[in-house]
Amino acid sequence: MLEAHVADELLAAARQARERAYAPYSNFAVGAAALCADGRVFGGCNIENGAFGPTVCAERVAMFSAVAAGCRDIRAVAVVGEPERLLTPCGVCRQVMAELAPEAEVVMEGGGERLVMTVAELLPEPFELRTERGRTTR
Ligand code: THU
Repeated sequence: MLEAHVADELLAAARQARERAYAPYSNFAVGAAALCADGRVFGGCNIENGAFGPTVCAERVAMFSAVAAGCRDIRAVAVVGEPERLLTPCGVCRQVMAELAPEAEVVMEGGGERLVMTVAELLPEPFELRTERGRTTR
């Protein structure tokens, strides 16, 4: 279980990253932060595109930044949207979490509520291409 002060710090990093959101189409800014096993924290914001499809969510930007910097052990991901409302990650980001941060806890805060869930709780049966379970049962 993530200690409260660690969750606090990760949420603060997510809020800071949210300030860099590039969201001229939706005007919906999202921030995220990924905590690595070695203590490094990588922020991410949503980055939209006029063709819509290429838009990337804040959670994926944070996780991809961590992996690109050599972190293969993401322990936690924090995500914040509008302060008034709790934001839970989209299905695509949950699938990416299942691959890059399968043991992680996900901290969400908004509307005066804090929710901490494991990736397995957020996505119980992820698609898995290269695991025993993926090959034999599906
Ligand atoms: N978005 C995120 O960054 N994370 C989520 O979990 C949900 C949605 C972004 C994508 C898009 O830029 C905007 O929020 C509206 O969907």
